[in-house]
Amino acid sequence: MAPAAVVVSDRPDFLVTAEEPKSLQSIFIRDEDERPKVAYNQFSKDIPVISLSGIEGAERGRVIDEVSKACSEWGIFQVVDHGVPKELVDSMTRLSRDFFALPAEEKLKYDMRGGEPGGFVVSSHLQGESVFDWRELCIYFSYPLHQRDYSRWPVKPDGWREIVEKYSEALMGLACNMLAIVSEALGLESDAVTKACVEMDQKVVVNFYPKCPEPDMTLGLKRHTDPGTITLLLQDQVGGLQATKDDGKNWITVEPIEGAFVVNLGDHMHYLSNGKFKSADHQAVVNSNSSRLSIATFHSPAPEGIVYPLDGVVKEAEGEKCFMEEPITYAQMYSRKMSLDIELARQKKMAK
Ligand code: SIN
Ligand code: FE2
Repeated sequence: MAPAAVVVSDRPDFLVTAEEPKSLQSIFIRDEDERPKVAYNQFSKDIPVISLSGIEGAERGRVIDEVSKACSEWGIFQVVDHGVPKELVDSMTRLSRDFFALPAEEKLKYDMRGGEPGGFVVSSHLQGESVFDWRELCIYFSYPLHQRDYSRWPVKPDGWREIVEKYSEALMGLACNMLAIVSEALGLESDAVTKACVEMDQKVVVNFYPKCPEPDMTLGLKRHTDPGTITLLLQDQVGGLQATKDDGKNWITVEPIEGAFVVNLGDHMHYLSNGKFKSADHQAVVNSNSSRLSIATFHSPAPEGIVYPLDGVVKEAEGEKCFMEEPITYAQMYSRKMSLDIELARQKKMAK
C-alpha cells in the first residue's frame, strides 16, 4: 500500500546539502506539547530484551511467556539470538549509511515526490500538518514479490540492492517466526496471525536523522503507532527511539543493543488480539552530536485482510463486547487512521 500519509512536496532542500544548518527552520519547530521530554541518550532498561535462542525447542514456552508479557504491557520489546546473520546486518547498515552520504542529485534520482512506489524522501510530514520530521528516508516495497518495482530501488552504492533483497528475505522469516510466537501467546495456533494477513506485505524504510542544531524543539519522527501487524527495527548505537505506555505522560529511550532488533506491534495486531496486546506508541528524537540511522521493516496484511479480533482470542472480561464494532478490511482501517490523523492536525491548527 502506498504511504498515503506522507507528503513529499515542499521539500526542505537543505537537508540533503553538504552544509550543516546552524539553526532550525520554522517548518521543523514543534508545539511545546510535542517536543522531546527525555534525552536521546538517557537509556532505559524498561523495554524487555528477549533471547530467541532455543525457540524451536525447550525454550519456546519461556519465549512465549516473555513475549506475552511484553506485548500486554508495552507492545514493544527487543530480541537477540534471532538468527539473522551479523554480516548481513552489518552490510545493510554500512551500505545504508553510504547511500545517505551520496550527493543530493544521486539520491534525488529516486525522489518519491510524485508518489512513486518506493525511493528517496527528503523529510516528511503528515497530510494536513505543517511541521516536518527531521529525517531523510529511503523506502523499498519488498513483498509481495509481484509489487517489487526494481526501477525504484537505488543502484548506488554498489551492492546495496542485492543486500536489501537478502535482508528483506531474512526479516520476512524473522517476522513470521515472531508472529507464530505472538499467535501462541494469544493461545492460538501458530499460523493464526499470518493467515489473517492473507498475504504478508513488507516494506523496508531506511531512516537517516542528520545532526540537528536545536534538537529540543523538533522530532526526527513524530509520535505514532504503526498501522500494520509487526515492525522489526534495527537501530545504530546513537539512541533516539522513545516509547510511552501511558499516553505520553512518561517517555523512555530504548537502549540500543548491538545486533538486536526492536520488535513493535502495530494497530492491526492490537485489533486482532482484541486489545490484549498493545500497539506501541513511539517516536524518534534527534541530537546535535551525531547523525543516526535506523532501518524499520514493516509487515502488514494484504489490503483485503480482515481487521477484527481473531476467533478464540480470550476476552478480557467474560461477555465484554469486542471494541471493534464490525470487521473491516486493512485498507479501510488504514484510510480511517489517516483521516483521523488529518482531522486531529486540522483541529490543532484551528485551536492555535
Ligand atoms: C519508526 O518508527 O519507523 C522509526 C523509529 C526510529 O527511527 O527509531
Ligand atoms: Fe514507527
